Amino acid sequence: MSMGAVNLSRFLVEHERQWGIERGLQDLLNNIAFASKIVSREVNKAGLVEILGLTGETNVQGEEVQKLDMFAEETFIHALEPLGLLAIMTDEEQDEIIPIPDKFPTGPYVFLFDPLDGSSNIDANVSIGTIFAIYRKISKAERGVLEDCLQPGNQIEMAGYVIYGSSTMLVFSCGHGVHGFTLDPSCGEFLLSHPDICMPEKTKNFSVNEGNYFKWEKNIRNYIDYCKTPDKESGRPYSGRYIGSLVADFHRNLLYGGIFLYPGTKDKPGGKLRLLYEGNPLSYIAEQAGGAGTTGTERILDIKPDTIHQRIPLIIGPKKECDIYDKFAKGKI
Ligand code: AHG
Repeated sequence: MSMGAVNLSRFLVEHERQWGIERGLQDLLNNIAFASKIVSREVNKAGLVEILGLTGETNVQGEEVQKLDMFAEETFIHALEPLGLLAIMTDEEQDEIIPIPDKFPTGPYVFLFDPLDGSSNIDANVSIGTIFAIYRKISKAERGVLEDCLQPGNQIEMAGYVIYGSSTMLVFSCGHGVHGFTLDPSCGEFLLSHPDICMPEKTKNFSVNEGNYFKWEKNIRNYIDYCKTPDKESGRPYSGRYIGSLVADFHRNLLYGGIFLYPGTKDKPGGKLRLLYEGNPLSYIAEQAGGAGTTGTERILDIKPDTIHQRIPLIIGPKKECDIYDKFAKGKI
């Protein structure tokens, strides 16, 4: 590590005054980083130990839960609940909100997260990730209530993700751009590697599960056909790039320029992905990097959630490309 390297906590302290990042938010992010290092360690040795494999249980979404999901969930909960910073939590694996146990003090923040997204890819050594969003408690209840978890994404105080890939990276925003840190395993620190990430304005890739082609309404199919239709000026056809692991697909598109799509289908108009744990945090990051997040008819961050497991059609990418998608979705092109 060179002496010029900037680790996460120093980066936060250095920007405390300029950005007005509260100490509590800094503490939370530092502890999120700590938990993610433990998860990263387990993910990296997943092929070597018995922890890999299905538990045989299913979560509230009816999906199989893998052991590493549970490990990640417990690691984040245990790292964050004693700090006296949170009023309430909820995550993708639970069907109810997660209260802070009475033995711990509470604080002003609300923590929503997807402990290990893309976990069906674990056995194939594909990158997976943790996604999180932090809000401020709005209810009067000291320990937080459901209402605190059902805030629109435009109220996010801080959001980000950790990608467990060829290296482990933490990417976050607190409303002042998007910043990426890479875990240096030799010193166990997240070091600033990608300051001020901007999503390229030009679309290079489109990322979608095209197996759903005939399940989509005609307007969506028209847009996907558009992505593949040659056009010199806009650089089409775009390259098709789809991993099937949201954090990995999103991260690549954020760095290289691309649109991610998980539209609704005729049988599931709400799509597959969740507003609270996937749509909001990643749309927030996209917007902070100059991009956008849309359902095709509305800005993701403006949706008022009805339930903690609400699903939404999720389209995230360069602003101009999302505008084009919206026009297709509304049948205007
Ligand atoms: P899971 O956590 O069950 O692996 O789901 C992954 C999510 C998300 O990461 C990805 O974008 C999407 O599901 C892929 O879904 P399809 O397999 O339907 O394309």
